[in-house]
Amino acid sequence: MEKMKKNKKDFLTLLDYSNEEINYLIKLTEDVKKNGDKYCKILKNKNIALLFDKPSTRTRISFEVGINQLGGKCLVLDSKTMQIGRGETYSDTAKIFNSYLDGVIIRTFKQESIETIAANCDIPVINALTDKYHPCQILSDLFTLYENDLLFKEGMKFVYMGDSNNVLSSLLIGFTKLGIDITVGCPQKYEPDKELMDSLKAISKKSGNKIKIINDPILAAKDADVIYTDVWVSMGDEESTQKTYDLKPYQINKNLISSAKKDVKIMHCLPAHRELEITSEVLDSQNSIVWVQAENRLYTQKALLTFLYS
Ligand code: CP
Repeated sequence: MEKMKKNKKDFLTLLDYSNEEINYLIKLTEDVKKNGDKYCKILKNKNIALLFDKPSTRTRISFEVGINQLGGKCLVLDSKTMQIGRGETYSDTAKIFNSYLDGVIIRTFKQESIETIAANCDIPVINALTDKYHPCQILSDLFTLYENDLLFKEGMKFVYMGDSNNVLSSLLIGFTKLGIDITVGCPQKYEPDKELMDSLKAISKKSGNKIKIINDPILAAKDADVIYTDVWVSMGDEESTQKTYDLKPYQINKNLISSAKKDVKIMHCLPAHRELEITSEVLDSQNSIVWVQAENRLYTQKALLTFLYS
């Protein structure tokens, strides 16, 4: 594939990436998935650190394996055993990262923390999830839709159902950048962040996508090609009986998907809380593409690293 000239060194939010760059990453992922060996020296002599302040299965393992497969070395760091845990600032830590490392992949709480690190070093900084965004997940979601011939299908109805969290925010950005319509099914009190919605208006105007918010789960799911959900209680948030009660009608179950298209595809970024936001019957059904969606994290992560280091 012909290399793309890039104007960004970091991957902090999809807001920083153009439609062309996101499309390029999707196509690059396709090639990485088909021709993995071609990319085995991309990270030769590169040392990349993973700094995870929250639990992770998919993101951490896929980055570690991906870096190894690209010929790089991976260091797994832990804030608790670093001086960050004793109050050393992110900006000072970033200067040290800059001296030793070729890149850093961070999962933490505040988006501002990774922005501070990125502002204080020259090496690529990748957002592996913050309370605000989860852009790496969305690359995999977009690619999974693409390889199922759904991403650019005329009139494709994609529905996100449930809580308005960091995954939804990043989905909204990705879909809006690509000019693809998205429907959100959620109770009024859990609607997406107003500030984000306002900031997407200008991008929507240019890309031509529509964001619909529907406070009725059956109506939202009607004739859907894809229904996507995520956990109702995000990492770091407190369990709330009220929230679980409010979101119960938005559970992805057999009854709900009966109003969607017969061959509706079910997506979930995982981990799933079975019988809460989704039933096992649906998660393990023929309609579910969650396992390939999770597997694709590896290929999209490798494509992202290839893009940043080529
Ligand atoms: N979807 C996702 O980011 O999974 P992990 O939390 O296991 O990394």
